[in-house]
Amino acid sequence: MGNIKEVLISEDKIQNRILELAQAIEKDYDGEILMIGILKGSTLFMADLVRKINKNVHMEFMQVSSYEGAESTGNINIKKDVETELVGKDVLIVEDIIDTGNTLGYLIENLKQRGAKSVEIVTLLSKPARRLKEIECKYIGFEIEDKFVVGFGMDYNQNYRNLPYIGIYDNSEENI
Ligand code: IMP
Ligand code: MG
Repeated sequence: MGNIKEVLISEDKIQNRILELAQAIEKDYDGEILMIGILKGSTLFMADLVRKINKNVHMEFMQVSSYEGAESTGNINIKKDVETELVGKDVLIVEDIIDTGNTLGYLIENLKQRGAKSVEIVTLLSKPARRLKEIECKYIGFEIEDKFVVGFGMDYNQNYRNLPYIGIYDNSEENI
């Protein structure tokens, strides 16, 4: 298993929680939901989530990158944008994990400015201890401690995304 120190959340627990999130979302929305997955980390979560929502769902994707300077300024660059009109839409952003909150803070503002009727967030994980920007997230799968995690879409240098569970990554020895 390379550098996976321990399994933090098992495949079963993830799937059970996704079903609960899907049921809550299904109840809260009347009409169509425009779900925007943030590439690449949210893909596995989104694929399972949409299949459990018994309602008309449209799927779009965005890819963003944080500004990589000496300081984390929260400057975000859109590398891939949605391919549909946002005006009047009920948007649900799908994220793998909220860390500092910089990415989502920017995205929420951006999508609202472009005319979305509502913008909510569903995230599989949240690390509240790391938050720099307060984010109102309506649907959270699991709150976790400040540990670097991989699997179920999340990566370390593009590795481990395909693990069906969430594991704690141990970078004490850099060998995969
Ligand atoms: P934020 O803007 O700091 O909230 O960045 C969140 C993004 O950082 C997530 O969408 C992930 O891509 C990445 N990230 C944050 N924490 C982890 C982690 O523990 N494992 C893998 N990716 C992470
Ligand atoms: Mg991400």
